[in-house]
Amino acid sequence: MNQEDLIQSILRLKQQKNAVILAHNYQPPAIQDIADMTGDSLELSRKAASTTADVIVFCGVAFMAETAAILNPGKTVLLPRLDAGCPMADMITPDDVRAVRAKHPGIPIVTYVNSTAAVKAESTVCCTSANSIHVVESFTEHDAVYMAPDQNLAKYTARHTRKKVYHWNGYCPIHHNLTVEAVQKKKKEHPDALFLAHPECPPEILDLADMVQSTSGMLRFVAESPHKAFIIGTEEGILHPMRKKNPEKLFYSVSGTMVCPDMKKTSLEDVLLAMETLQPRVSVPEGIRIRALDAVERMLNIG
Ligand code: 13P
Ligand code: SF4
Repeated sequence: MNQEDLIQSILRLKQQKNAVILAHNYQPPAIQDIADMTGDSLELSRKAASTTADVIVFCGVAFMAETAAILNPGKTVLLPRLDAGCPMADMITPDDVRAVRAKHPGIPIVTYVNSTAAVKAESTVCCTSANSIHVVESFTEHDAVYMAPDQNLAKYTARHTRKKVYHWNGYCPIHHNLTVEAVQKKKKEHPDALFLAHPECPPEILDLADMVQSTSGMLRFVAESPHKAFIIGTEEGILHPMRKKNPEKLFYSVSGTMVCPDMKKTSLEDVLLAMETLQPRVSVPEGIRIRALDAVERMLNIG
């Protein structure tokens, strides 16, 4: 089937099955282009919470589809590629979180949505890269919080709060391995460009950034900025919507290493097959779902 036939078949099935297609900002261009909504983790969680569709086709990685399933127990949630995971989400287990709680009794455990449902279920609240400071600051009765699993999101958040931020030592392999040398090299090549970094980058990278934002925060920033050129310090999938929405501006990936292989797995063929077969489905055991829902809803209610 050629690309146009694939797209037409997906759109037909979408209507027939009352489905909504959600895609993360890192997905391949063809997937972003057929999605009903693209966004960062927070925006996609909100959309998943409010959709009236019967079927949610989640083009992203497993923790994102799991979050949609946590919020929508009565709906069919499809993850077209079941093998699309997030290595950071697998860097902490529910037992690890219970051990943290035992070591720091009473401390709020603020868990990045890049985590499994079982880990969310052991947490006080979830956060994303777009709201971590806001979520941590919401604990007005506490002087300290524990953030998991991303050490870099925790260190970034710690710079913007007076609370003590303890953290787990997980990381995103793509953002964590970005080097100061790579950033400096790119800045030298494009001296007029602003450098935007994602909070999953290590502190020494954030020190070089003109702006630190979630993926959708970056999209808003480049649209509103009077600057004409930007070096982008996150996964390169975000360059597609940036270029599409701002054809008069220039965007450079900070390094050829900024590719998340899991985010690149989904193809149009996978989406079509998932919609035809209503497989593979993502569901969360009810005992875990109810407790994970507490943490996710608490985050969504913080605003
Ligand atoms: P955003 O929520 O900023 O889109 O980030 C998700 C992610 O996986 C970053 O690597
Ligand atoms: Fe996970 Fe990093 Fe890929 Fe985001 S970019 S899904 S944090 S591995």
